[in-house]
Amino acid sequence: MSSSSAPNEGATSAGRARGGGPRHVAIIMDGNGRWAERRGLPRAAGHRAGAEAVRTTLKAAVKAGVEVLTLYAFSSENWRRSEDEISDLKGLMGYYLERELDELAREGVRLLLIGDHRAFGPQLVERLERAVEKTRANERLTLVVALNYGARGEIAAAARRLAVQAAAGDLDPAQIDEERFSHQLTTAGLPELDLLIRTSGEKRLSNFLLWQSAYAELVFVDTLWPDFDEAGLSAAIDEFAGRQRRFGGR
Ligand code: FPP
Repeated sequence: MSSSSAPNEGATSAGRARGGGPRHVAIIMDGNGRWAERRGLPRAAGHRAGAEAVRTTLKAAVKAGVEVLTLYAFSSENWRRSEDEISDLKGLMGYYLERELDELAREGVRLLLIGDHRAFGPQLVERLERAVEKTRANERLTLVVALNYGARGEIAAAARRLAVQAAAGDLDPAQIDEERFSHQLTTAGLPELDLLIRTSGEKRLSNFLLWQSAYAELVFVDTLWPDFDEAGLSAAIDEFAGRQRRFGGR
């Protein structure tokens, strides 16, 4: 799924958390490098441990009844990292997909991609698209992986698409409202984002889901991503449940 292609049609309709728990959780997985550095290990070892934390957290999210888990795996700014590190990350994603695909399918996980994953080269693209295809009909949890994703780019692409429709005379600009705009985003059709977690103590959104996080609860934890686990997810969900969400009302 590219940020400039059609949105995720056919996904669950938008709505609020049921039973007090968040339906849609997103995570900025930060701190792999620091985790490795503290152990005197190469950054690649941090990313490997980070991939294991993805596995653990995904299982925990299924158990907690989360419907959608969106993970920031590679930002459009991450291309500024060294070639070696980018290659390590690509290799890891390919390896992880190959190893986990059957398990994902067995667990009822549907994989969706946001961002322009086509930049990752034919081999990984082929694996990613095969995984999306293989898990298409699964309904237990939707795992959205943001790859080569940037929220400003996503918003600009949505504006561009609406502008093209307006210029062609197919859309009256007066009809462009929040709902119509949301339908052009790569998360169209997914439930509203309820909870956004960032690990490693940083308190920034770093160009992730800027539109979608308008009313999300933000939880920042000091845990480095490779150490994040079921207890970490439960604690964030508890914090979410304890907050009063007013959506601008009283
Ligand atoms: C941030 O840590 C992490 C990333 C940029 C990559 C996230 C990738 C993974 C968790 C591994 C594979 C992903 C999947 C979906 C299998 P950092 O390197 O910025 O850490 P630092 O800030 O401590 O340097």
